[in-house]
Order: sequence, then C-alpha cells, then structure tokens
Amino acid sequence: MRNIFTKNKIKKSAVAILIFANSHAFSQSYNNLWIPDTLSGTTFNLNIKDTFAQIVNNGNQTITSGINGKIWGPTLFFNKGDVVHMNVKNGLNDSTTIHWHGMHLPAVMDGGPHQIIPPGTVWQPYWEVKNNAATYWYHPHLHEMTMEQITKGIGGLIIVRDEIESKLALPRTYGVDDIPLVLTDRDFNTSNQFVAVPYGDTMMVNGTLRPQFIIPAQVIRFRILNGAIERSYNLGFSDNRTFQIITSDGGLLNAPVPVTRYLLHAGERVEILVNCGADLGKSLDLKAYNSTLGNFVAGGEAFVNGPFGNALGKKDFNIVHFNIGAQNSNAITTIPTLLSNNVLLKESDAMITRKLTLSDSSGVTKPVILGPNAFIINHKLFDINYNEYNVPLNNTEIWEITSTSVFGHPFHIHDVEFNILSVNGVAPVPAQAGWKDVVFVPGKIGTTPSVVKFIAKFDDFADSLHPFMFHCHISLHEDEGMMGQFVVTNKTTSGINTIDKNATDFRVYPNPANEKLFFTFNNPEAKVYYVSILNIVGKAVMMLPRPEWQNGIDISNLAAGTYFVQLTDDKTKTTTVKKFVKE
Ligand code: C2O
Ligand code: CU
Ligand code: CU
Repeated sequence: MRNIFTKNKIKKSAVAILIFANSHAFSQSYNNLWIPDTLSGTTFNLNIKDTFAQIVNNGNQTITSGINGKIWGPTLFFNKGDVVHMNVKNGLNDSTTIHWHGMHLPAVMDGGPHQIIPPGTVWQPYWEVKNNAATYWYHPHLHEMTMEQITKGIGGLIIVRDEIESKLALPRTYGVDDIPLVLTDRDFNTSNQFVAVPYGDTMMVNGTLRPQFIIPAQVIRFRILNGAIERSYNLGFSDNRTFQIITSDGGLLNAPVPVTRYLLHAGERVEILVNCGADLGKSLDLKAYNSTLGNFVAGGEAFVNGPFGNALGKKDFNIVHFNIGAQNSNAITTIPTLLSNNVLLKESDAMITRKLTLSDSSGVTKPVILGPNAFIINHKLFDINYNEYNVPLNNTEIWEITSTSVFGHPFHIHDVEFNILSVNGVAPVPAQAGWKDVVFVPGKIGTTPSVVKFIAKFDDFADSLHPFMFHCHISLHEDEGMMGQFVVTNKTTSGINTIDKNATDFRVYPNPANEKLFFTFNNPEAKVYYVSILNIVGKAVMMLPRPEWQNGIDISNLAAGTYFVQLTDDKTKTTTVKKFVKE
C-alpha cells in the first residue's frame, strides 16, 4: 500500500494542474441526489461487483464497485432482536471483506481483515441484532486495500430500529423526510476515473456530484455518515440555522442537542433534525465549514500541491442543495424534547484501564520499516498475527488513549459501543455523551499530549481465534498500519471441560445432494465453529461461520459437481474434510 500510495502521489501532482483546467469538477449545474435502495427482512443478499457509473456528467463513465448496483450498496433495515442472515457474494476479481461497522456481533461474523472473502465466494455470517436504533454502515476492511476498495464505492448504510425509537414522533419515511447522506470526497483523473488518494477535489453525496434534493416544509431527519477516506466535515446550514443532534454513533441521545455546527470525523454517523416548516419555496444548503478547522484536523490543511493537495482543503464548500417543497400529510412539525433514557457506564464500573498511545513514527526505530510520516498505535505497526490484548468476556474497561501525534485521529473500536469519559480531562460535549464507536483523539497541544478516555463493556461474544480490531478510521492511516487487534475470551468455559465434544467425526447426507446438505455427528453435543465448502480444486465457494447446520446447509446455488465440506470443530479448532456430489 505504501507503494501504491507513493505511485498515487506522483500521479496526483501531475494531474492536479489538469484538473483545475478541466471544467467538469467545478461546473455549477446540480444533479439529483441518488437515494440508495433499501433491503429489509431477515435475509440479505449482497453481490459485490466491479461495474461502472456515469458519475461525471459528461464523458467517460467511472469504473466503480457496487453492491447490487452501480456504486455503493443498499440501505439495510434491521429490527433489534431479529436474527439477520447475510449472503455476501464477492464478485470482484480481488479478495475483500465486509465489516458491519458498529454492530455488536461475534468476531467471526465481524468482517474485519481476518474474515477474508476470496473472489467468487459467498460468505454467510448471521447474528442477533443487539444494537440500539441508529445508523450504522458496512464497508470493506481488507488490510492494505481498505482505502482502494472504499474509493471504488463499496459500502452501504444500516438502519436499526427498536421499540424506543419507534414510539417517538420522529420522521421515518426513508427518502422523503428521513434522508440518508453518505459524505465522501473523490479525486477524478482526466478520464473521469477515481484516484485512490486521501483527499478528493470534489464533494460527493450518495455517489452524486453537486447534489440537489427536494425536501418537504416540515421537520426533516438526516442520517449523515462520514464515509470519507480522511476528511472531517464541519457541518452547518447556509443560513446558520440551529439543528438538533439526536444520535451519537450507536443510539439516541437522551434529548436533542441544538447546534449550528457539528464536526463529523471519518467513520462517524450522526442523525439530525432540521425544522423546515417555515421554508416553503426557499432553498438551503448543507455545507462543510472547513475553513475554520485547525491545521491538524483532517481537511483543515491548506495544501494545494503534493500528496495531500486538494481543492477543498481549509475551505467552506457545499454538500447538498435543498429546495423546500410542499408539506406532506402526516408531517412531523415539532421536535421531541426527550428521546431516550440511556444508562451509561461509569468510571467506577471499570475493572481495568488499558493505556494506548498514538504517535508519529519519527524517532521510532523498531520496527525499522517506517517512513517518517506514518502514524502508529502502541509504538508499532499493525501485525495481523499479533493480539495486543486478551479481554476477558464481560470485562468493563477504560481505554485511555494518549496521543503525541501532531495530527488528530478518529479512533474506532470493533465489537462494542462505548461512552466517552473525557477528552483532555473534560467531559464530552452533550452531542457525544451517548453511545459511540469512533472518538476523535486530537493532536498534541504544543508539547502536551492529548488524552481521551472511554469506557466499554465487552460482553456476549468470546472467540480465541478471531480478533476484533481497533484503528484510526482514516483509511490511509489504517492501511499504513495504524491498527491493532484484541481477542475476547471466556475463561470459564475453556479448558475445564473434560467431555470430548470434538465435532470432527461427521458424515454428510444425502450424497449426492441437491438442495440441502445435512450432517450427522457421532457426538450428539458436537459444536461446529466453521464450515467451508470447497470446489474440486480446493477453492472456497461458500464460507459459513458457526453455521446453523441443524437446518441443513442450503447448497441450491452451487453448480453441479464434486465438492468438499471442510468442518472446523468448535472446541479443538481442528478441521476435517468430507467429499460430496452436488447434482
Ligand atoms: Cu468502519 Cu474497522 O471499521
Ligand atoms: Cu468497525
Ligand atoms: Cu489517523
């Protein structure tokens, strides 16, 4: 990735001058905002493909990757308490992963760098939705390829609904008064192709350049994701009106928080309410007021040239242009005063404080491969074979992150939603005093390091084999190694069980099989950790973490031929292979 990036640096500076001369990037016409399709229910089919889309109005289409479409992917609606089943088909020519950002689920279903989906393979994770109603997202997480695959457009939103949120008088008609806004910026070369660089020259919302949208004259809810590679967006409206923050990343706040600006960092989501009841016939712009950002907040640098040079740095720019039309029947016209009653974790709940560091690599000699501009966690680069922490299941922990980096980094952790305890000794602002999975760790102030503390409970899911990740959500930094991993393990069940529950002694039937494949085990208490179905040359075609094998494995989509079932036993993690024929 360092090589790819270096290559892009050169390309980028060579292209920069041409881009300024190229009118498309700055033409004034608006395009209608695309609203991603939706999927709901409990089974979700996601087909990731390389494709192309007419993103720039004139000239070449852009080579993209999309999920069930031309770019980005469908918005998935989950109900808290449902068990959701995903069929993720990798139709790319490269491996990828799909990570369910913010979801509390087993590590083997998480879609981080360890849950690689080879090309042509279907990955079938499933889990019970335990998250609160809020906006989450899914995106690729293949180590050293995340920036490139996100740049191509792979990803999608997840909207979780629950009983608390459903009872509130909130706008929830998707695409009408409940509007998803996926914010990114992209760089296009002169033939309209994406360039994988940290900062683009052009703002893009839901894959649309210069978007406009008609909203009714009533209370509007926007679900805003910062899906950028690096840039933070200092959100506000062109008339400086007050809007209400109603969620942090992982759930409703206790009450709406009125603001005129809100700084959203890479990976973060926020839902806002805007009262447009008196605005019929007017127009309004959602903007990024990035001219006010500090130099060490992503997007606050004024670089024009070089690897980080871009047309939007330290500038105010438009995100979406809204035209306000007629009010709908049953419109929401008032903003609720109370939303939820969160029971947050307290400092005194913690059993341990883990101390992490964020730093620049300069001066770090081990490992020696670092360039002067990389950023690192705990003084080392990411190593996919090294678990930094072993977290006991059900531990409540404080993570204290001390940053000596000059630059601010949005720190993200998998598995859990946390509560921020303090940022440089100060309690979080009201809009962040809820459930979070990304926290902005500011750069050092003068020579004084910044310190951010959060608290989380690591409950429900233990797995000694598959780790969870923590990392900077600036994909460039993450790909360059600003990441670590931890396992959650359950001491009370490992090692003390003397009964042999080995599941490796099994039989498959019927054989030949047509629709479903069943297993029988000699040990009735057999537990299965993983099943892969391999084709005749040993390539995985289906990957099933902790399959619900009792119902039979659906193989109806496999082509006729000879296959192997590779089964991993839960207790010993040993694998056994059996052959079968698909008719
Ligand atoms: Cu949104 Cu580890 O990622
Ligand atoms: Cu994540
Ligand atoms: Cu970073």
